[in-house]
Amino acid sequence: MVTIRRAQRSDSSDIARIHIDMWRLAYKELLDADFLRQLSYRRSQRQWESMLQRHSGVLFVAESSADGVVGFAAGGPERTRRFDVDGELMALYVLSSHHGSGVGRSLVRSMARELLENGRTGMVVWVLRDNPAYGFYEHLGGTPAGEQELELGDRSVVEEAYVWGNLGMLAG
Ligand SMILES: CC(C)(COP(=O)(O)OP(=O)(O)OC[C@H]1O[C@@H](n2cnc3c(N)ncnc32)[C@H](O)[C@@H]1OP(=O)(O)O)[C@@H](O)C(=O)NCCC(=O)NCCS
Repeated sequence: MVTIRRAQRSDSSDIARIHIDMWRLAYKELLDADFLRQLSYRRSQRQWESMLQRHSGVLFVAESSADGVVGFAAGGPERTRRFDVDGELMALYVLSSHHGSGVGRSLVRSMARELLENGRTGMVVWVLRDNPAYGFYEHLGGTPAGEQELELGDRSVVEEAYVWGNLGMLAG
């Protein structure tokens, strides 16, 4: 049984572990090996802890009664002003052991509800090109809306934006 709840400061080490472990797994073929190797659990934990401490943005975790925290989602206001939407899903990661059991969808739904409650109406998420997660966002009704290039380690990569104009549909 998995429940979605707001993250607390004590979740920051679980969030950092899932974030880095899933980067190393999901982006193995897409990003530089040295870049992935030098990611630091401690640095990541400090960043998530600071976000929780400052109450900047929204952070949910998915907690399994058997396995503890197995996924998380981070969101907040849209950052680029490139799109006609005002909310953003900034991170979504679920441990592979729990893929395909509805955890990702539940996290997105909770985020959509929270953004709606904060007065936002739409949402964007950035996905690395060639990351199969784009299929998940399309499945949930997201539509491709543009690209951006960024440097990660020694590699230049392309991210694609998926948008939802109507958060109400996602919130269910
Ligand atoms: C993307 C991710 C969050 C999806 O989480 P999940 O818990 O496996 O997804 P769910 O079980 O909630 O799936 C919900 C629906 O989407 C579908 N789906 C899931 N992943 C999919 C994919 N890659 N392509 C197409 N459809 C997908 C499921 O079949 C399910 O459909 P249904 O309910 O209609 O039967 C998860 O695969 C993940 O953490 N991936 C690695 C990290 C990552 O890439 N994160 C995104 C960064 S932008």
